[in-house]
Amino acid sequence: MTKRDSDRYEIDPSDGLRREIVGGWSVDKHKRLKRYVDITRATRRKFDKSGSTYIDLYCGTGRLRIKSTGEVSDGSPLVAYRQSESDSPFSQIHIADVDSENLAACASRLEMAGAESVIAQSGPANETVSRICRRLHPSGLHLAFLDPYSIGALPFSVLQELGELRRMDLIVHVSEMDLQRNIIAMAQDGVLDRFAPGWERAVDLNQRNDVAKRQLLEYWRSLLSAMGYLVSDNIERVTGQKNQPLYWLVLASKNSLADKFWGQVSNVEPQMRLTF
Ligand SMILES: C[S@@+](CC[C@H](N)C(=O)[O-])C[C@H]1O[C@@H](n2cnc3c(N)ncnc32)[C@H](O)[C@@H]1O
Repeated sequence: MTKRDSDRYEIDPSDGLRREIVGGWSVDKHKRLKRYVDITRATRRKFDKSGSTYIDLYCGTGRLRIKSTGEVSDGSPLVAYRQSESDSPFSQIHIADVDSENLAACASRLEMAGAESVIAQSGPANETVSRICRRLHPSGLHLAFLDPYSIGALPFSVLQELGELRRMDLIVHVSEMDLQRNIIAMAQDGVLDRFAPGWERAVDLNQRNDVAKRQLLEYWRSLLSAMGYLVSDNIERVTGQKNQPLYWLVLASKNSLADKFWGQVSNVEPQMRLTF
């Protein structure tokens, strides 16, 4: 492990595999995912022929330790799997990660937990997305959980490709912290062009950072709407202990029912909710 890796990862003594060391906010993200998988179980059962899939393009190691409390918990693919398996299992679970060690740890943990139909793809999301979408049933019900660390790892082309499927719900983690620190550099390096093509039409970088960030999020949201997505008004703004901006958690679906579900999933303080 490099120094950077050893700050972020450690070996879990219970299985000898890598686990990630994270901040407490990860718990919130997983609570919402768990609740969403739970609340959509009756819908999933209706897709017994064409199937229902869970897709996690930035799957991580499958296990985390929360730095401040020492609590060990499941990573997102395990959260989704365990929540679905008893009464409305996903017919396939697709995991991918650019880091092959993370991917291998996650795949092993899913297997040890009893998941059978797991398909693992190593590589950046902009490449794995095509390989995965080719294998999805066009009439199936799909949920993609997109949780990269950075804006640079979330090109809009990934969302476009997923969005070609008729029933592809998206839960997306957009790093506000990244934009807070780097929005100008991201504009110069072409990161914003990939994240939200055409952003210059809507974002004024001469404005205060919080205004420019908000304009960018609204524009990105409009790109999803142009693809036929209804983007929940309940965009959750998750902040850290010192109220520092961390990320926005966004639900997009082509079905208005999903928005209703998201309303039930969201259980945050009103000031953490951005209403458009
Ligand atoms: C925040 S972690 C994922 C945590 C996981 N979703 C969870 O909740 O347990 C982000 C993961 O994205 C991976 N990653 C970073 N850039 C990527 C890219 N361009 N494509 C795919 N994976 C990437 C990292 O290796 C890391 O495992």
